[in-house]
Amino acid sequence: MNESEKDARPPGRDEVSRRPLTRTRRQTTGEPSMAREPDYQTGRPTKIAIVGVGTVGSTFAYTLLLSGIASEIVLVDLNHERAEGEAMDLNHAVPFAHPTKICAGTYADCQGAAITVIAAGVGQRPGETRLELVRRNAAIFAQIVPRVAEANPEGIIVVATNPVDVLTYVTLRLAELPAQRVFGSGTILDTARFRYMLSEHLGVDPRSVHAYIIGEHGDSEVPVWSLANVAGMRLPSFCAENGIPLSPDTMERIFRQTRDAAYEIISRKGATYYAVAAGLMRITEAILRDQNTVLSISSLVTDYYGIDDVCLSLPTVLGRRGIERVLRLDLSPREARGVRKSADVLRHTIDSLEEVAEPA
Ligand SMILES: NC(=O)c1ccc[n+]([C@@H]2O[C@H](COP(=O)([O-])OP(=O)(O)OC[C@H]3O[C@@H](n4cnc5c(N)ncnc54)[C@H](O)[C@@H]3O)[C@@H](O)[C@H]2O)c1
Repeated sequence: MNESEKDARPPGRDEVSRRPLTRTRRQTTGEPSMAREPDYQTGRPTKIAIVGVGTVGSTFAYTLLLSGIASEIVLVDLNHERAEGEAMDLNHAVPFAHPTKICAGTYADCQGAAITVIAAGVGQRPGETRLELVRRNAAIFAQIVPRVAEANPEGIIVVATNPVDVLTYVTLRLAELPAQRVFGSGTILDTARFRYMLSEHLGVDPRSVHAYIIGEHGDSEVPVWSLANVAGMRLPSFCAENGIPLSPDTMERIFRQTRDAAYEIISRKGATYYAVAAGLMRITEAILRDQNTVLSISSLVTDYYGIDDVCLSLPTVLGRRGIERVLRLDLSPREARGVRKSADVLRHTIDSLEEVAEPA
């Protein structure tokens, strides 16, 4: 047997045991292992923590894993067993996806995460009012947010739990972190639905439809028809040019389908999670890759059409540091009235919460 043949032989038991225990691992060529490492090009952390791994949190974790953008995903849930089960299931997808360290953890494990996404909460009980539900979820946030902020004072917090605008405001107050690093998924999903419904009507790729839903993620949300466009063409001229109807009835139908989509989905399958997970993924990508992407997310708004000190959605430039700029759209008088009304609805809920938190 020549020397090279000897090298090709599988090592025997003794040979293995004689190997030094502290061998340096050889870095293979090609894609570097991302597991437990920060972004290999920029050195920035790409760990993501998810608090609340029900349908939304776990679907987001799965989307994140398939994207390959995160080096580490930590799953935290009141139901730790559930988090463990999700981590195990996701880990078994790693060989089909990207090297990623996924584990069930505690709040302390949020340390060093670039982003913590909060999707924890409870659903509405039969007969429960919306306000009672808000109070229960705000109480849950009082347990979660200070622990996340304490473990990870440098990170970004993204809220997905509903009612997302009120809970984003609650999170901002509880976390005591800069407003640039605390925001909610807001109307990112409603905007996606609006673009999809419009794209169906206009016969173009939804990615080529530029239109936003602003204000509350909920019943008082506002479609910004006055600025909606395809290739810079406002919808009335795009439709006139292409022989597509755009009557007030058509516009009302498209908006109603957008606003009420969640009710329609929930009545059929009980919950919505794919599209919101994709939206959370888009937020994550904009931050980790410092893309300065414009997304309609919920953040603290001050001095805008008379609106002050509420969290609601406006198109927002998102990059590595979180919110870079909130775009203060020039609205039509009707849209401005709509977004003010949305802010009033949200302020009323926040006031009712504060009355409970600070009884006279
Ligand atoms: N923002 C959006 O566009 C959007 C879209 C869809 C759903 N949502 C919201 O996302 C939230 C989650 O929805 P879901 O379908 O995943 O619900 P779910 O009931 O499947 O999951 C909620 C999870 O939160 C956990 N949890 C509860 N209390 C907790 C606590 N104190 N600490 C840690 N974890 C806790 C539960 O154990 C559960 O795993 C809901 O509020 C839902 O309305 C938001």
